Amino acid sequence: MHCCQATIISVFLAWLLPTSAFADNSLTLDPTYFKPADVITRDVAIIGGGSSGIYSAISLKDKGKSIIVVEKKGRIGGHTETYIDSTTGTPIDIGVQTWQNISLVRNYFARLNIPVIKFGSDADPNSPAQLSANYDLRSGKEVNVTAPSAQQVYTAFAAYAEQLKKYPRLNDGMFLPNPVPEDLYMPFGDFVKKYKIEDALVTMFNYNPGLGDVLTVPTVEQMRAFGQNLVEQLSTGFLTTRHHNNSELYTNAEKELLSSSSLLLNSEVIQAERNDGNAKSESGRIKLLVRTPNGTKLIRAKKLLITIPPRLDFLAPFSLSQKEKTVFGKLIDAGYYTSIVKNTGIPDNLSITNMLQSSPYNLPVLPGVYSIGTTQVKGLHIAFYGTPRSSKTFPLSDEDVKADIIASIKRLQRANPDKFNQTEPEFVVYSSHAPFYLQARPEDTKDGFYRELYALQGGRNTYWTGAGFRSQDSSNVWRFSEDVVLPELVKGL
Ligand SMILES: Cc1cc2nc3c(=O)[nH]c(=O)nc-3n(C[C@H](O)[C@H](O)[C@H](O)COP(=O)(O)OP(=O)(O)OC[C@H]3O[C@@H](n4cnc5c(N)ncnc54)[C@H](O)[C@@H]3O)c2cc1C
Ligand SMILES: *[C@@H]1O[C@H](CO)[C@@H](O)[C@H](O)[C@H]1NC(C)=O
Ligand SMILES: *[C@@H]1O[C@H](CO)[C@@H](O)[C@H](O)[C@H]1NC(C)=O
Ligand SMILES: *[C@@H]1O[C@H](CO)[C@@H](O)[C@H](O)[C@H]1NC(C)=O
Ligand SMILES: *[C@@H]1O[C@H](CO)[C@@H](O)[C@H](O)[C@H]1NC(C)=O
Ligand SMILES: *[C@@H]1O[C@H](CO)[C@@H](O)[C@H](O)[C@H]1NC(C)=O
Ligand SMILES: *[C@@H]1O[C@H](CO)[C@@H](O)[C@H](O)[C@H]1NC(C)=O
Repeated sequence: MHCCQATIISVFLAWLLPTSAFADNSLTLDPTYFKPADVITRDVAIIGGGSSGIYSAISLKDKGKSIIVVEKKGRIGGHTETYIDSTTGTPIDIGVQTWQNISLVRNYFARLNIPVIKFGSDADPNSPAQLSANYDLRSGKEVNVTAPSAQQVYTAFAAYAEQLKKYPRLNDGMFLPNPVPEDLYMPFGDFVKKYKIEDALVTMFNYNPGLGDVLTVPTVEQMRAFGQNLVEQLSTGFLTTRHHNNSELYTNAEKELLSSSSLLLNSEVIQAERNDGNAKSESGRIKLLVRTPNGTKLIRAKKLLITIPPRLDFLAPFSLSQKEKTVFGKLIDAGYYTSIVKNTGIPDNLSITNMLQSSPYNLPVLPGVYSIGTTQVKGLHIAFYGTPRSSKTFPLSDEDVKADIIASIKRLQRANPDKFNQTEPEFVVYSSHAPFYLQARPEDTKDGFYRELYALQGGRNTYWTGAGFRSQDSSNVWRFSEDVVLPELVKGL
């Protein structure tokens, strides 16, 4: 029987490729071993279709560059998540809520055709008043908090802004003076005392959950989360989507990227070759072996942009250099989790903040619930949970987090039967955002960690962006990508 040799070879290779992928680079990443339809050639390969990856993809596309985004999940958007209530159809943003009102953000939303409004500006004046209360969710007991006045908070933020002015480059990224001043790596709890910023502390803590313990976190990490531009936004106001459905941004981006063959969903890099040298020459190219729902593909690109959290375990397929391993290996992070819960027994108009009567500033103990907030939907509350900083990618299992959220609500109910119904809380949706807020230890910051981190940019034709390199703030991450990373990346294309 005469059978076509080519078919035998390709069947053989299809079988061979996945198993030998780890054995021999030169064989599996050799384009001649792939069917032409399985080789994707682009200017830039982008790993991660979240906030920074998608911003960079659209920006590079608009600069006339060809791109491919590799996203692990079946959707893009990363930490931007919207729950649609099944009975009312009401969207509830359970991830990213707001953006900074800066021209780069306004232009990006206009580019993707998503109308924005000032956050809170369309609140219905006839809707029932929203109440808030402070409880110790370890005991369920109410906590009496003496909050600073608005004027005191304002004065403290002004004092904080004065300190930020000493480090103007921090507004663009983790560009620290050399040598690093002690003020920047001292515990933030000491810094607020030194500069009389105590009255702003709780506001900062509430604005940036997921950073870890605000009193022991190095000052520069707090400044990274709460920089000059964020202080300005406090007085001018933030933006949100007009439909209160922040995922719309990514629905439009996804359509555009899929229709231009620029996005692989449910896909992951399993092996990589990243070469130094001129990206225009063949030997300087990036080669990625990618597992997709439609088989294994080879991506050939001039440059690589990695936007996923730079944890060693996540980066294992990218054949890291010793230097990269040493730098990324120093990062620590915190766990951050969100959920929508029903049957909480908490009135629809009441938000609960977890606080402690006996702690400094009444700050809660982590791991624990940050807050249980109200939503636009009757019977649903939104619960936020966090851990202290640690070197673990996943500091707590999802089962432990969920169990503690439920136990906290039950303690609240039991300790206050006159205020809360004794019902069985249930998750409507739960989402882990761990690992969150990748950051450095104070001693590493002192020793120049951020200089070393940023020195990795461009090595082996690989660039880096995302929260790990900038901060957990979409607007900051976009601005960092646009102003710091992409200009260098496009130079060599
Ligand atoms: C609950 C919550 C609320 C927030 N609220 C705000 C807010 O109001 N305003 C604001 O500005 N910021 C907010 N943030 C922070 C903001 O979401 C982040 O700063 C931003 O998402 C960071 O972008 P990123 O690209 O680094 O990461 P992400 O947006 O998380 O994107 C990373 C992407 O990479 C994908 N990925 C991971 N591993 C791989 C892999 N191996 N291969 C391929 N893909 C992979 C992920 O699935 C994800 O899509 C919030 C975050 C959370 C969790
Ligand atoms: C799957 O990949 C093949 C090439 O191997 C290509 O011809 C086909 O169009 C792809 N299908 C989808 C749905 O992407
Ligand atoms: C955003 O800021 C601009 C300029 O400062 C201002 O004119 C505009 O009203 C703001 N937009 C919203 C929606 O708040
Ligand atoms: C808080 O104040 C209330 C009323 O003033 C009081 O009953 C309660 O015991 C106080 N709680 C604590 C923990 O001090
Ligand atoms: C919200 O946006 C998502 C994503 O664009 C979409 O699937 C959904 O239909 C929208 N829902 C509402 C109620 O706006
Ligand atoms: C508490 O129970 C009462 C009586 O069943 C009910 O009317 C009320 O809506 C419940 N409230 C909450 C917040 O569950
Ligand atoms: C809050 O809701 C409760 C019922 O759950 C109601 O008794 C109370 O009047 C409401 N408070 C305000 C200020 O709307």
